[in-house]
Amino acid sequence: MVVKLEHRKISRAVISRLPRYYRFLGELLDAGVERISSGDLSKKMHVTASQIRQDLNNFGGFGQQGYGYNVKHLYSEIGKILGLDKTHNFIIIGAGNLGQALANYASFEKSGFILKSLFDVNPRLEGISIRGIRVRMMDELVDFLHNNDIEIAALTIPKSKAVEVADILVKNGIKAIWNFAHTDLTLPKDVIVESVHLSDSLMQLSYNISQRENVRKK
Ligand code: NAI
Repeated sequence: MVVKLEHRKISRAVISRLPRYYRFLGELLDAGVERISSGDLSKKMHVTASQIRQDLNNFGGFGQQGYGYNVKHLYSEIGKILGLDKTHNFIIIGAGNLGQALANYASFEKSGFILKSLFDVNPRLEGISIRGIRVRMMDELVDFLHNNDIEIAALTIPKSKAVEVADILVKNGIKAIWNFAHTDLTLPKDVIVESVHLSDSLMQLSYNISQRENVRKK
């Protein structure tokens, strides 16, 4: 699958590696590193230098022969590609364990994701605040969406409710859903859905453990 970006087709695989480059370059910036050779970047990131060059060539390169990469410039350009040069307001639907854990994670703000509210159906949660951000009841959702510039909704509700709630969100202007409920959402084409399943990552880990054990047995 490919995504279109500024008239170029960039593969999903490349896009999926960009957050890691961005995170890593951010750490270099924090450590005061101004420039890095592609060789050093490759060693530190455990990615081949040619992979890094190929990935970044999709966006015009950014490297200079004999100089390497200017960390600040590369960080800011990758940030632009990832849309992190703008802020994105978001809400969380489902203020249970996972919803509250996400709300407690302050680093989203550092990347420009601004949590505006959480919503739930449980009256015991009404009015509580997480890092100063209020939990509202679902009957306030539609008004809230119409009066606030909300781009993204995270779904951390039971899967049996996800389809119904996603429909309400879309009908009221939400164009991007960060879906944690373990169900597929079939929504209009202009709505972007990014599903996250921590268990997929755990199964990947389990696969790698099994592979290692198989190699040892041989
Ligand atoms: P939880 O039971 O602690 O929280 C769910 C919350 O959703 C509750 O506060 C409940 O009142 C609320 N809720 C129920 N129906 C609602 C509706 N129609 N509208 C708004 N709020 C509603 O559950 P937990 O552990 O936070 O998990 C939430 C969801 O995330 C579950 O579907 C779970 O399977 C999923 N999950 C996904 C993970 C992933 O990696 N994708 C990891 C952990 C959980």
